[in-house]
Amino acid sequence: MAFPASFLDELSARNPIEDVVGQYVSLTRKSSNLFGLCPFHSEKTGSFSVAPEKGIYYCFGCHKGGGVVNFIMEIENLDYPDAVRFLAKRANMEVPEDESYRNRYKSQERLKNLCLEAARFFRSQLTTPEAQVARDYLNKRGLSIDTVKKFGLGYAPNAWSALKDAMSAKGFSWEEMIEVGLAVKHPTKNSVYDYFRNRLMFPIIDVRGNVIGFGGRVLDDSKPKYLNSPETVIFNKRRNLFALNEAKKSKEKFIILTEGYMDAIALHQYGFDCAVASLGTAFTEEHAQLLAKYTEKVILTYDGDEAGQSATRRAIPMLEKAGLTVKVLQMQGAKDPDEFLKTYGPDAFRSLLNKSENQAEYHLRSIQKKYDLTKDDQRVAFLKEAAKFIATLRNAVEREIYGHRAAEAAGVNPETIKIEVDKAYRRQEEIRRKKQETQDLSATQSRQPAYRGIRYDNVRSAMAEEGLLRMLYQEPSLFTQVHLTQEQFSSSLLGRAYLAFRTQQEEGREVSFSSLGEEFTKDEIAHLSSVLQKNRESVSEQALQDYIMVIHAEYQKRLPSGEAQLRALQERKKNAKGYGG
Ligand code: CTP
Ligand code: MN
Repeated sequence: MAFPASFLDELSARNPIEDVVGQYVSLTRKSSNLFGLCPFHSEKTGSFSVAPEKGIYYCFGCHKGGGVVNFIMEIENLDYPDAVRFLAKRANMEVPEDESYRNRYKSQERLKNLCLEAARFFRSQLTTPEAQVARDYLNKRGLSIDTVKKFGLGYAPNAWSALKDAMSAKGFSWEEMIEVGLAVKHPTKNSVYDYFRNRLMFPIIDVRGNVIGFGGRVLDDSKPKYLNSPETVIFNKRRNLFALNEAKKSKEKFIILTEGYMDAIALHQYGFDCAVASLGTAFTEEHAQLLAKYTEKVILTYDGDEAGQSATRRAIPMLEKAGLTVKVLQMQGAKDPDEFLKTYGPDAFRSLLNKSENQAEYHLRSIQKKYDLTKDDQRVAFLKEAAKFIATLRNAVEREIYGHRAAEAAGVNPETIKIEVDKAYRRQEEIRRKKQETQDLSATQSRQPAYRGIRYDNVRSAMAEEGLLRMLYQEPSLFTQVHLTQEQFSSSLLGRAYLAFRTQQEEGREVSFSSLGEEFTKDEIAHLSSVLQKNRESVSEQALQDYIMVIHAEYQKRLPSGEAQLRALQERKKNAKGYGG
């Protein structure tokens, strides 16, 4: 284990989960648990629970869960060792760094430092005589001095080793420069050269303020227009958004999501300080979850071209899944927000924001665009597709409103479309009901975990394993009565958890979720917390023995037959006083 067990025990003892979570979520007590609004998805009723005695948090809505370290990993966007360090700092504890962790931590700190120094270097280059071309470009794009400062913009000189030499002088190695994507190895010569040359530089800064990468724009029409840092150990594009470090401070009740650096920056300059941009890559579920930590509403302002619109259609369900309200801004007369602001000014943009459409309006209008409504056959086809879409809306008032709107667009009587919508709605209800039924059925019958990649091969045994684990977690003294081995568990995950808790108990430590190391994945931790948070069942000798018997019997069935008998004999002897079954 990378951090010593005794340290992790003390760490979790000195960071009670209710206190730590309480700094982010306002919690109220309901019997032995605390409840509040989940910080990981947007909701109106509190599905987020904390069980202080068990050291577990669990959300019944989004099924996130774990111990205090997992909570910090999730909410502060940290990896395991950094979350441990975070909590150590909170409790004023010194971290006994393991060699490999220390090295990894140190090298990542150095890489972040290198990026910070590079950003400083690029910024300093903006004032040199040769950077006149960059200053002209900034002027042409209408960026103010304040904006340049706020985003730390800079200039990469038109040279092969300007940055490389400056960073070497600061003690960074070529390997480090290559590792963060600032330098590139020459394919034949034993040398490296600067990756960004003669470009306007945009530092990419994470929510905690670290420079983790760069975007670089050409100053003319050459290609490629933008160069971005590659994915590196400190730069994960799926988890970071440009300007979120600034936007998270905004007082606005929403976040504006744009396609480009320049759009986000222009928006900030014109007073929309809640704008962010995705990083030249597709929008991801992780991005949606990241946004959900800072806002309840996202307004999409992707470009009006087909690429932008298809990106919009992709992003909507991801944002909704993260619990966010989504609106789509419709822009005419400009290709992107940057152009729009320059042409029409901030007031016009503000009014677009106010008029931005919810996803139903947006969707209906994209359907409408596909048809030529002056032609009868196209009108029929339009009404058919519109009715089918409107029927997917769960709210009757919404169906009414959009039905009217579609009828109006096609110039028909609203009654006509209402009949179509109702028909389609009833059909869809029937399908939904059936689907729900089979889902409920399979959920109770199979009791499979709701987490990706975790499946029970033997549900009967797994249910007993869950029950046993729950009981042992509540009452660790019972471990003395259980002589099962890890292999006898049908679920490898539950078997590993059993061993981990058993080890804690045998080492005289507190049996606790919070002081487990890094050996479980996020989904595994979430699933275990869903198992362990379930209601305290009365701890009875009988139930304990029943669980053991089931696990044992199922294990026997899995053994090859000849061996099974032999083993069974041995087991029975070994466990003679262990359980009375
Ligand atoms: N992009 C990229 N590589 C390119 C082109 C674009 O990574 N060759 C990414 C950049 O993050 C850019 C975004 O896609 O900010 C949007 O591209 P585009 O709409 O072409 O650029 P604009 O934002 O309009 O940039 P500008 O106004 O500077 O021309
Ligand atoms: Mn643009």
